[in-house]
Amino acid sequence: MPLPIKMLAGAMLLFSLSLHSQSMEIEQKVEELLSKMTLEEKIGQMNQYNGFWNATGPAPQDGLAADKYEHLQKGWVGSMLNVRGTEEVRAVQKIAVEESRLGIPLIIGFDVIHGYKTISPIPLAESASWDLEAIEKSAAMAAKEAAAAGINWTFAPMVDISRDARWGRVMEGAGEDPYLGSKIAVARVRGFQGDDLSSPGTIAACAKHFAGYGFAEGGRDYNTTDVGTATLYNQILPPFKAAVDANVRTFMNGFNLLNGVPVTGSKMLQRDILKGEWKFDGFVVSDWGSIGEMIDHGYAADGAQAAELAANAGSDMDMESYLYVSELAELVRAGKVDEAHIDDAVRRILRVKYELGLFDDPYRYCDAEREAEVTGSEELEEAALDMARKSIVLLKNDNDLLPLAKTGQKIALIGALAADNNSPLGSWRIAAEDSSAVSVLQAMQFYEGNTITYEKGADVAVGPVSFVMETKINTTDKSGFDAAVAAAKGADVAVLVLGEHGFQSGEGRSRTELGLPGVQQELLEAVYAANPNVVLVLQNGRPLALPWAAENVPAIVEAWHLGTMSGHAIAQVLYGDYNPSGKLPVSFPRSVGQVPMFYNQHSTGRPAGDQPGIVFWSHYIDESNEPLFPFGHGLSYTDFEYSELQLSSESVAVGEELTVSVKLTNTGSRKGKEVAQLYIHDRYASVVRPVKELKGFELVELEAGESKTVEFTLGREELSFYNQKGEQVIEPGMFSVMVGGSSVGGLEAGFELKATEN
Ligand code: BGC
Repeated sequence: MPLPIKMLAGAMLLFSLSLHSQSMEIEQKVEELLSKMTLEEKIGQMNQYNGFWNATGPAPQDGLAADKYEHLQKGWVGSMLNVRGTEEVRAVQKIAVEESRLGIPLIIGFDVIHGYKTISPIPLAESASWDLEAIEKSAAMAAKEAAAAGINWTFAPMVDISRDARWGRVMEGAGEDPYLGSKIAVARVRGFQGDDLSSPGTIAACAKHFAGYGFAEGGRDYNTTDVGTATLYNQILPPFKAAVDANVRTFMNGFNLLNGVPVTGSKMLQRDILKGEWKFDGFVVSDWGSIGEMIDHGYAADGAQAAELAANAGSDMDMESYLYVSELAELVRAGKVDEAHIDDAVRRILRVKYELGLFDDPYRYCDAEREAEVTGSEELEEAALDMARKSIVLLKNDNDLLPLAKTGQKIALIGALAADNNSPLGSWRIAAEDSSAVSVLQAMQFYEGNTITYEKGADVAVGPVSFVMETKINTTDKSGFDAAVAAAKGADVAVLVLGEHGFQSGEGRSRTELGLPGVQQELLEAVYAANPNVVLVLQNGRPLALPWAAENVPAIVEAWHLGTMSGHAIAQVLYGDYNPSGKLPVSFPRSVGQVPMFYNQHSTGRPAGDQPGIVFWSHYIDESNEPLFPFGHGLSYTDFEYSELQLSSESVAVGEELTVSVKLTNTGSRKGKEVAQLYIHDRYASVVRPVKELKGFELVELEAGESKTVEFTLGREELSFYNQKGEQVIEPGMFSVMVGGSSVGGLEAGFELKATEN
């Protein structure tokens, strides 16, 4: 029975009072513990080591591993990463808790990026669902499985906005848009952390990489970022701010320079903005070795200076540079780092450990029975399947070639990726078993009414593909072409599964080409020439530039790297057992030369060439300015129509809200979901605003023939922006509003924002 409002308000008040007293209690405990710690023990909390030996075997006797072991015993290690499984975690925790003087438990970190052992779609794919509830659930499932394996902290979500399709880590984020990216950041933080961080099924989240990593020049990973204040504040920072507002407990800095300063050494980002303006009270971990890399950047002369700069800038924990543990004590004694900075960092780290309940029970995450029960459970697999289906984007479907008929069809299934059980896991899947994904070939065999002939056709890569190896992508072997072409000739439909191997995107995997690696494009064209009834299923971790396919191939399905249940999700979409509803969270360019390509650009002073033959406008002479597939694009097996766009008023005062409504009708013949999107254009402002900015969206499910009025609200948050001083401002003027099913076209209206009330 629902509680009456009064009782509910009372209960809420009690709840927030109890949260307040809990946090007061934690603050007291932190202070008490801090007062007992030596300088070296404090610095120890700021030191994080990678898993370094099989913790359940004998202790290492010499070398780096022996040093690390000894440091654990001395209380000089605050955290470890890449230790996993309850047995291993218990073993290292035991040394910290039982052998060190103060017995402070370790916080155990791991890259739970899109699942732990049960792998869900890559974050870019999940973002294509625009389904915040599903994304939150997916993170919650990942947290549950990881927490059961001893882990209590994930290095996710990556909330970097991606500007360049060449960058390999596009796959790890939410795409190119700060509004969508912020909503998804919040969903992921909530999913990982839940309502109660001390519950054994939740883990601390980490917003990374603060900041600007996704704007690397030339899309080359780890490269320099140079952006103006307006871009920093309007494009890059919003998802980080949203994560702070959602109470994310940790941040990670990064490898890049931002406007000439390594972000790891940036006081402006870490102390002034994050901890100052935004009042973040969790802690910041460096990226792997990034404190030491400030020497390579040419920012620090040596390790001691690197440690000094990072600590003073507010980088609280050193991941694998070994520089805090070796240099900080001396720097404090020499007066180069204020001990108050050390105390502040330690307070932050201890606070999160208390919140996780690690002081109540350091083995809280080490229940072997729970681990056995939860790992790879049916619940997790079902959730991964659901997320995978929701992540698929139908890019093109001429003449309703899809869905495929379930009986009487001869299908030629072609492509190395169609039978690959490894690739769909992506490149962040350290805890998953290799080759544990369901392939398209396996899943299609569940549809017994059709005959499937499988031919590889061509490989996607040369040599081994793995987490640490360089992957060569220019295979030239066409020996499988003939068999593939023959299979296509004898079939009703050819389904080609092409794209990038899971290890061809991700960290350190930038590309200069955005086509299909190797000879896959040639394979596609050869098969199409034999049988034009082609369904192209793409598996990739970044936008691809495939103009030939977009022009010629009748049906294209974007299936990313979808994780453990990949094949089932794809087969269910191909056969229409699931009606796709994904929308692109990134623009797909026509050519790599158009990159960086993003929908929320500024207008130039010479925006359109409407005079034939005139060359002096902003364009390329060999390619259009348009994307191949725009941000927000995605089809369904049914059709949607937008009508009756209405604004609650033609003008609105600063501080008031405007309601935008639109009628959405399912005009097709089956039930489906549509993401209705609202964009604005602030037509003139003191800092020029993009031609379109997403400011609202709703995922709506409608029966065939059904209509619904969708409402959006535009208020101060949506209509404001950051100026060149980094201040949030709202300026009177004329705005356009566009509502539709993608960032292109849609219904349009306008209103005036006035300085004072009507
Ligand atoms: C990545 C981080 C990751 C860390 C720990 C780094 O190379 O940039 O995103 O969390 O390694 O594995």
